[in-house]
Amino acid sequence: MPREAGCPFAPAPQVREIAAAGPISKVRTWEDREAWLVTGYNEARTLFADPSVHLDNLHPDFPHTNAAMKGLAAVSPRTMFNTEGAEHARFRRMVAKPFTPKRLDSMRPLIQKHVDQCLDIMLDSGNSADLVKALALPVPTEVICDLLGVPYEDHALFQHHTEVGFDSNTSAEEAMQNTLQLLEYLNNLIAVKTETPGEDMISDMAEHIRAGELQPWEAALQAVGFLAAGHETTANMIGLSVLALLERPDQLALIRDTDDQKLLINAVDELVRYMSIPHIGLRRVTVEDIEIAGETIRAGDGIIFDLGAANWNAEIFPEPERIDVQRPNAAQNLSFGAGRHNCIGLQLARIELAITLQTLFRRVPELRLATTIDKIKFKEEAMVYGLSGLPVEW
Ligand code: HEM
Repeated sequence: MPREAGCPFAPAPQVREIAAAGPISKVRTWEDREAWLVTGYNEARTLFADPSVHLDNLHPDFPHTNAAMKGLAAVSPRTMFNTEGAEHARFRRMVAKPFTPKRLDSMRPLIQKHVDQCLDIMLDSGNSADLVKALALPVPTEVICDLLGVPYEDHALFQHHTEVGFDSNTSAEEAMQNTLQLLEYLNNLIAVKTETPGEDMISDMAEHIRAGELQPWEAALQAVGFLAAGHETTANMIGLSVLALLERPDQLALIRDTDDQKLLINAVDELVRYMSIPHIGLRRVTVEDIEIAGETIRAGDGIIFDLGAANWNAEIFPEPERIDVQRPNAAQNLSFGAGRHNCIGLQLARIELAITLQTLFRRVPELRLATTIDKIKFKEEAMVYGLSGLPVEW
């Protein structure tokens, strides 16, 4: 549903209308089937936590995003992205090593180094740049490469594949070709890491393959998911946040000037709430009847969660249209999902955003937009909301 002209951050008017009518509503999907659209904050939390609400994209009634996603699901093995219960927990444990608080803390200097290097190059190149190309995209890409053990030199390949994969206009054939190419690349890398392991997630998965606990095909598909989920999301958040903060100098100053890590992370959470970048809706299918908000969701019904509507619920987040980096409950936003499938990279994303935004505003205090907001291209059609480019000068 298209957003209103001049309101690039607000959920689409049609979604807000549906949300005003009630927390869950019936909608029709692109397959001309009924599904439930969840716009209520409390109802979303309850349903994400319900064990009979499944992220099972092989279920015949799963409400797929589009034909491309449906086609891919039909040939995909089971991974952490489409399993539940003990099977999901087992997959998730195999990739959990880099996300312990200690390991994440030890990544801070590396993240700072990547941000500083990008800014050095940007500042040396003149007094204007496309901030998406110069900073927003390379920083999370470098970080996900470090984490997975993927050579950064290959970034053009997987950035292109992620862009195609996340574009909701991509046809089923294109999506299949695209994913197969990326899978082949990662399969080769897994083979290399099986022979000569390093300190990275692909090597961790290679170890599970050697132990007979994971199939190479499953590992490759999980790596594809991590590559995409790990850089495109954070990159989009950086671009959108810089744009929004340049228009709100008081909020920008709070981020720039604070030495309080808690406030800085709270500011990131508020931006994540405000942007709600997974804007195409998280998908589930129910396997048992559920009573909620005076309705019965029947076994086999599809559910689509609109995170933007839930994150802009004025009862939970008063004056939701305002960015308030000191908002006391910003961390309760739903942009990282909730329940068993919540974002495994959320703490890493928070750290990346905090370091990138604060360093940028401290090192480039004269930063300003080099265009007007109406000329900026928003990724309306992509599965993750963001900016294609952000012209800035200083
Ligand atoms: C601002 C940045 C990010 C946002 C907004 C975001 C958002 C989300 C959301 C909404 C989900 C839940 C999907 C669902 O329930 O259907 C999710 C899951 C996931 N995210 Fe993130 N993400 C971000 C960054 C990252 C990063 C940096 C990584 C990797 C390093 C990552 C890896 C994952 C993975 C692997 C899952 C699947 C978890 C599971 O199914 O158990 N994400 N993310």
